[in-house]
Amino acid sequence: MNTKIMKDRYNAVGYHPMIDYRNKSNHKKLNLIKPLLQDLINAKITALDLGCNAGKYSFLMEELGAKVTGIDFSDVALEIAREIGKDIKSHCVFVEGNILDMQFKENSFDLALFPLNIVEFQYGDIEILCQELKNILTPNGLFCITIQDGISRIRTGRDSKETYDLSSGIHKAFHDIPNKGIYEYQTYFWTLAFAKYIIGKYFTLIKEVEYDANLYWLTFKNIK
Ligand SMILES: C[S@@+](CC[C@H](N)C(=O)[O-])C[C@H]1O[C@@H](n2cnc3c(N)ncnc32)[C@H](O)[C@@H]1O
Repeated sequence: MNTKIMKDRYNAVGYHPMIDYRNKSNHKKLNLIKPLLQDLINAKITALDLGCNAGKYSFLMEELGAKVTGIDFSDVALEIAREIGKDIKSHCVFVEGNILDMQFKENSFDLALFPLNIVEFQYGDIEILCQELKNILTPNGLFCITIQDGISRIRTGRDSKETYDLSSGIHKAFHDIPNKGIYEYQTYFWTLAFAKYIIGKYFTLIKEVEYDANLYWLTFKNIK
């Protein structure tokens, strides 16, 4: 990942009603994973929302009972998260930082959630993230991700194989952000099998569900 390109892009996006947890019409995706999280969360759980943006998933996990910390490198998104948090009387803590260089203490969290963010990360970055999570997750702590399968996106015409650089797996897009300009947005080609293989080098897969069309939930356990 090119941290500067991505951070600049997310900072430029700023506020949009789509990212606001108070707007219930945004809860379609959240509601799909709510039952999966409900099975894992109780009042004793400390949870980490990786790439929390304006805190949608953080607020959901808090609603389910967890004590939540969200981390993101976009100071603009975090400011919005904190404002929404204040308004809804949330106790979520929002920390500015790069998830590839987290400063949390060993065994800080029982669960880390990484919802649909994996495409923004290079293959080696996910290995770095796994090494960090092995340390900051408790023994038997859970690493939960949601992912779309890249091959399935091509099969169903949602992506074209021509859009990916075959050598690196990078897909470059350019977004015209109103009143801000053109911003580059880089993603990487990921498949379900590949994500399971890479994360499986560090964690034990304990659950795999297709919870909606081409939307997969994976739960990994941190066996120390
Ligand atoms: C696709 S958005 C998803 C946000 C959130 N999961 C949601 O659906 O509301 C990805 C978020 O991850 C953040 N992000 C991407 N790479 C990051 C990194 N290396 N460290 C911290 N945050 C990162 C971005 O700033 C952005 O807010």
